[in-house]
Amino acid sequence: MKHIGILTSGGDCPGLNCVIRAAVNHAKLTHNWEVVGIPYATQGLLERQTIPLNIHGWDLRGIDPLINMGGTILGSINKGDTLASAPEILASYEALGLDALIAVGGDGSLKIIHELATLGNWNLVAIPKTIDNDVALTERAIGFDTAVNTVVDAINRLTFTAASHDRVMIVEVMGRTAGHLALHSGIAGGADVILIPEIPYTIKGLCEHLSQLRAWGRKFAIVLVAEGATPCLEDLDDGFSCDLENAPGEHITSPKCGRGQYIADQISKLTNHFVDTRVSVLGHIQRGGIPSALDRLIATAYGKTAVDLIAQEKYDKMLAWQCGKVVNVPIADALDKSPYLVDPQSDLVKIARALGIYIGEN
Ligand code: F6P
Repeated sequence: MKHIGILTSGGDCPGLNCVIRAAVNHAKLTHNWEVVGIPYATQGLLERQTIPLNIHGWDLRGIDPLINMGGTILGSINKGDTLASAPEILASYEALGLDALIAVGGDGSLKIIHELATLGNWNLVAIPKTIDNDVALTERAIGFDTAVNTVVDAINRLTFTAASHDRVMIVEVMGRTAGHLALHSGIAGGADVILIPEIPYTIKGLCEHLSQLRAWGRKFAIVLVAEGATPCLEDLDDGFSCDLENAPGEHITSPKCGRGQYIADQISKLTNHFVDTRVSVLGHIQRGGIPSALDRLIATAYGKTAVDLIAQEKYDKMLAWQCGKVVNVPIADALDKSPYLVDPQSDLVKIARALGIYIGEN
């Protein structure tokens, strides 16, 4: 009989409850093991709290809400100097009688939990989640697919209103350091411009592309902007830094307004207000919603495989999705290579360029 803890850490995303469901069901049905939830990740460990988890469908007339519920029933935290409380947290693992811990997190939170696990000699299995999809060594983190679908849905809606008014719609999406979400959803949604942190853009290059579209008879455009999209330094030399609050060189992470509004203002400035722009910031809508079928599938496979690893007593591993199946990799290897960024030479970038999408670097 094993007593397994499970926690969700970092920003929430759709699919977390599917992992919990799969781990609880597989542990119970296959091994008759108990899985308990640790609320609010390291906070719950610190306070030594647990949430009993059962095969949920059995409580609710056979309906299992976890399969299609966004967020996390365990709660999560994405900040906190938990290492300062390391001795108490380390002692909690034993105090709670845990034989193993399943931690679902992004690279930031997995780093903290991995450090704790190494210090405390915990039996840890990690599962990657983040709508940014920037955890290395896995093609898919939980939540990414749903977020891509959410952005594509927004682009679909904005396209018709943009076309009706000949407007340039700027759509700001999440992604402070990694542009996977913008790149995938921009290509899938038919965006005209995709700006990501990994490939610097110029406002001139962007505006030239917009006027080229007009010359082709396309009077509206969809400009997809990751929140960490990076301007070329030459843009600053050309006087396009006026609305930035930081000194040159620090501009990249912190404009006064959001990156989308900043770009809209710069387009207006360069075109003497000829281009009519509107900005939509999708924000946390991208983290909400019910999980897509692919996220449910991957999350379920991860939850099941985490229990398998515990049965084999294989610890210090992160589960990863590679070539359509779940594999495991040393957690340290994945964290060393994270955040995993968009390669400017990647096939997807080439595909975007081949389709005439402006993606920067000129
Ligand atoms: O999970 C990563 C992320 O989605 C980023 O893309 C975004 O900047 C961040 O979370 C925002 O998180 P929060 O508002 O919860 O701090």
